[in-house]
Amino acid sequence: MTSGVKQTVIKNPTWWKRRTSMERALTLISIIVILIGISLAIALGIVLYKTKATTQTDAPFNAEALTHGSIINSYPTEDKPNELCLTPGCIHTASKVLEFMDPSVDPCDDFYQFSCGNFIKNTNIPDDKSSVTTFSVINDQLEEQLRTMIEEPIKENEPKPFVLTKQLYKACMNKTKIEEIGLTDIKGIIKDFGGWPVLEGDNWKDGDFDWRQAVYKFRKAGYSVDYLIDFSVGIDLKNSTQRIIDLDQASLGLRREFLIKGLEDKLVKAYSEYMVDIAVIFGADKQRATKELKDSLDFEIKLANISLPNEERRNATALYNAMTIRQLLLLDISTK
Ligand SMILES: *[C@@H]1O[C@H](CO)[C@@H](O)[C@H](O)[C@H]1NC(C)=O
Ligand SMILES: *[C@@H]1O[C@H](CO)[C@@H](O)[C@H](O)[C@H]1NC(C)=O
Ligand SMILES: *[C@@H]1O[C@H](CO)[C@@H](O)[C@H](O)[C@H]1NC(C)=O
Ligand SMILES: *[C@@H]1O[C@H](CO)[C@@H](O)[C@H](O)[C@H]1NC(C)=O
Repeated sequence: MTSGVKQTVIKNPTWWKRRTSMERALTLISIIVILIGISLAIALGIVLYKTKATTQTDAPFNAEALTHGSIINSYPTEDKPNELCLTPGCIHTASKVLEFMDPSVDPCDDFYQFSCGNFIKNTNIPDDKSSVTTFSVINDQLEEQLRTMIEEPIKENEPKPFVLTKQLYKACMNKTKIEEIGLTDIKGIIKDFGGWPVLEGDNWKDGDFDWRQAVYKFRKAGYSVDYLIDFSVGIDLKNSTQRIIDLDQASLGLRREFLIKGLEDKLVKAYSEYMVDIAVIFGADKQRATKELKDSLDFEIKLANISLPNEERRNATALYNAMTIRQLLLLDISTK
């Protein structure tokens, strides 16, 4: 039965061999695509995990954490324990920052409101102030602390600067003593300086007065000497290793911008009345004071008129005219 039949030996071929070449190609492509898919999924998983970890370590104050009140929980206490400042100073500061923030606002919508919202909402500007800032709050606090320190009794062996500061403060605060002394001391000082013409009246001798001597006396006693020429010793702006004598225009009793408006200006008028009032309190005759201090004010207005306005004083290079004292002596007085 088998003899005439052409025997084709057909081995049971493998599944792969039974496929057409087209099917083989498609199968290979599918496998590759699946492998790529799996590796992408793994990579995505790793990236997501890392992102989560960094958000937690670097930005524990993100808005979401705040609104959900989970700041403490989001601290990576085990990951990077040394990078977290837990000193009382840090904790108090962090608490202040949080207190000023308004976490109900999304920082991406309004960052200012997010970071400062509660400070604005909870801060009242007192009547004696025109503004309040986080810095002015700290400054007020510092002044209170200084006052407490200065008001403490002087201790034994306390360094001299502290003793003097405490004594000065005490003297300034003793109103009884201030009232008791009245004008006696200051009148004595004025007499020592050569007297105030408006108080001296007919006893004043113009010829006896030397303004340079007055400058020496004022300086020695610790008073300002900047009434005709501003004079100071300071660091050379162009060479900080040396000091220079700094000469500048007079410092005026009222700003130049007001003085040059003349006697009709409201503020200049008030300034003029203030001068007369002070002289009268010191015992001057009102009529004499009005006349003499008008001359004095006219002189100050002239000084203001030859002073440089602020807008011409912005260029430090232009105001820097270094010279030796010999060169200064040779300087023509009319040079600007
Ligand atoms: C103020 O000065 C008066 C008079 O010298 C003195 O008796 C008094 O103790 C002083 N008061 C204070 C608080 O220092
Ligand atoms: C700065 O001043 C010092 C001391 O007078 C001087 O030795 C130095 O040469 C000056 N430097 C310059 C750059 O002028
Ligand atoms: C200021 O100076 C200018 C020019 O020297 C002069 O014309 C003007 O009258 C002066 N003004 C006053 C208020 O002295
Ligand atoms: C400042 O003054 C100097 C010297 O007078 C001058 O060379 C310079 O151009 C001025 N700078 C400006 C910005 O005006």
